[in-house]
Amino acid sequence: MTEDLFIPLHAGDLQLANRIAMAPMARRRASDGGIPSEHAPLYYSQRSAAGLIISEGTAPCALGKGSLRMPAIFDESHVAGWRKVTDAVHARGGRIVVQLMHSGRVAHSSRMPDGQLPVAPSALRPAGQVMTAAGLKEYEVPRALELDEIPKVVEQYAHAARCAIAAGFDGVELHGASGFLPMQFLCSSTNKRTDAYGGSAINRARFTVEVLQALAAAIGAGRVGVKLSPENPHNDISDADPVETFGTLVSAINALGLAYLHVAVAANARADHLSLLRPLFKGPFFVGGGLTRDKAGALLAEGKADVAVFGVLFLANPDLPERFRRGSALNVPDDSTFYTVGPKGYIDYPFLADATA
Ligand SMILES: Cc1cc2nc3c(=O)[nH]c(=O)nc-3n(C[C@H](O)[C@H](O)[C@H](O)COP(=O)(O)O)c2cc1C
Repeated sequence: MTEDLFIPLHAGDLQLANRIAMAPMARRRASDGGIPSEHAPLYYSQRSAAGLIISEGTAPCALGKGSLRMPAIFDESHVAGWRKVTDAVHARGGRIVVQLMHSGRVAHSSRMPDGQLPVAPSALRPAGQVMTAAGLKEYEVPRALELDEIPKVVEQYAHAARCAIAAGFDGVELHGASGFLPMQFLCSSTNKRTDAYGGSAINRARFTVEVLQALAAAIGAGRVGVKLSPENPHNDISDADPVETFGTLVSAINALGLAYLHVAVAANARADHLSLLRPLFKGPFFVGGGLTRDKAGALLAEGKADVAVFGVLFLANPDLPERFRRGSALNVPDDSTFYTVGPKGYIDYPFLADATA
């Protein structure tokens, strides 16, 4: 049970000292230019006891930077900024990958280069509102990517992966979840294309497969993971047949030899995607979403996952593995500071030693 969380693991080329990973979590503290904040090296290095840290969603190109104060990884200033983070994590013996997140339609023209419209597989506006510098605004109808633009977007991901390695990351995770660009291609509600990237499940999976192939070619498959979230409706997305869609995608990426597949369980999913997807992927299987120490220990002991991924618990407990080992009480996450600027709620959660002092 709990002991299983502390067995080291080789996931592709990534060497994990334990099976407790930190989930990717946007903290919206980067500069307007996408450089991680001055406190980011400390924030991440405080959490370096994780078997693997997965960074907050980070834009692989300017059109992918949809969220406010979201970091990026596609130019020299980003590489220099992230280098401080990776050095700090490595100095404490940790491992860190960057999550490559292209927002696609979940963005606003006011944040896009030259005021361009956000891009997407199809010109379909997400329901809801988006935070802009001028306050909340309705989402816009995005511009559908032309067929000949898609290879360029794929290449932007590969370029970002090379930048990630230059910045000292141990690898990259493709954000294929939560209604962002790869999932917009994958799901039937957001993809109405009639070319090779739309229609059947294998066509809708094509973009994600091609991005993963490009990432693997750029930095080696053993340094590339991917996160999926079947049935997660975040950012106004749904799929008519998620069992077929996600099964088709996972079967298609199985042969790539990736470092890992990360599945975030959606709270109200109708299907048991973990059991359905696990046999389709022969590599390390990371599972997250609402886990506790005991739930995670049981998943590992039953062979349902190889690594347990923790979001809010890691956010609030920099020494989460040690707390799990000792069965200690946990700090409570303060959601009022998840996305605020500055050190509060970021680098000031106490360690066990502080709590007992
Ligand atoms: C503050 C916050 C920011 C998040 N940002 C991201 C993100 O950038 N990329 C991503 O894939 N998931 C993101 N998530 C989702 C988490 O990775 C994780 O899947 C989710 O929190 C469920 O795990 P948990 O119950 O252990 O927190 C975020 C979650 C939180 C709480």
